[in-house]
Amino acid sequence: MAEASFTPRVFSGIQPSGNLHLGNYLGALRRFVDWQARDVETIFCMVDLHAITVWQEPADLAHSTRELAAGFIASGIDPERSILVNQSRVPEHAQLAWIFNCVARMGWMGRMTQWKDKAGKNAEAASLGLFAYPALMAADILTYHATHVPVGEDQKQHIELTRDIAAKFNHDYGVDFFPLTEPVIEGAATRVMSLRDGTKKMSKSDPSDASRINLTDDADTIAKKIRKAKTDPEPLPEAYEDLTDRPEARNLVNIYAALSDLSVEEVMADMGGAQFGRFKPALADLAVEKLSPITEEMARLMRDPAEIDRVLARGAERARTIAAPILDETYRIVGMVR
Ligand code: AMP
Ligand code: TRP
Repeated sequence: MAEASFTPRVFSGIQPSGNLHLGNYLGALRRFVDWQARDVETIFCMVDLHAITVWQEPADLAHSTRELAAGFIASGIDPERSILVNQSRVPEHAQLAWIFNCVARMGWMGRMTQWKDKAGKNAEAASLGLFAYPALMAADILTYHATHVPVGEDQKQHIELTRDIAAKFNHDYGVDFFPLTEPVIEGAATRVMSLRDGTKKMSKSDPSDASRINLTDDADTIAKKIRKAKTDPEPLPEAYEDLTDRPEARNLVNIYAALSDLSVEEVMADMGGAQFGRFKPALADLAVEKLSPITEEMARLMRDPAEIDRVLARGAERARTIAAPILDETYRIVGMVR
């Protein structure tokens, strides 16, 4: 069968589970803004259905969804140029996810690192949704025939699973209907680590607030968290390679590079040999300079939640014009009487 060619289209999602952080900004939001500047259709989603795979207080979920929308806009996503939408508003995501639940295999899901990490030793008590999560993610992507998905390093395995689902669907039904989506993992900060433990990724769900910089933190809090970030007693080396066994120091250098749009080599040329007493204040200043305008803009947008709701309603309308025909054709391929 000849390879069908798909128009390039970008999709990505973030969970509205609170505590949007520096890892989300550098690993995801900043990359989304780069894509938006190119000549390609971009769709960005607050994945509220994914968020409830673990318990969310209803009032907090609604607040986090609006706050995440504000975070997208404050980071530079223009809801005219990109489609900005919350997942539950477009029923095609959940509808296609059911089809994919019947395509994906239990064994594939059981191998997902995020499932193993989140379910831990008590998988019996985890929600069925947490297990099926990657099939919904595949549906998010494929209900738009998205060809490129910018994400942080932790999501690579889920995109590979999305490709497996697309390939199996195409093979089983003898079609060339779903594209094999490319993960796009770029930049100096595809995996921002916790400020308290350089071997753990910075995460929304870490109980320690000091482990992450939230996009809602004020300038003092940002500076304090960086000053208190865990490090070792050595000064920075001259060469980036010499940071291999120093995860905390390496993480701060990566963050510095990503925030300043410099390569890690350029950062080392400037900061090599510096004590943390010099490097940390420089990083704190840089973080405050880059993040404060975003924090302030988020707070401003959150003062008018009705306007955010209007933006999301419009996003859902536009999203459905793409998703509905793709779902319809999927149902037809599968043999559902329409
Ligand atoms: P999540 O917070 O799990 O909804 O993730 C939303 C996006 O942010 C995904 O593209 C993730 O890969 C990315 N992301 C989350 N945590 C990090 C991190 N610590 N470093 C880099 N990217 C991240
Ligand atoms: N699983 C992603 C995360 O936790 C969020 C997500 C859901 C997503 N659907 C997506 C990311 C589709 C990219 C594309 O980070």
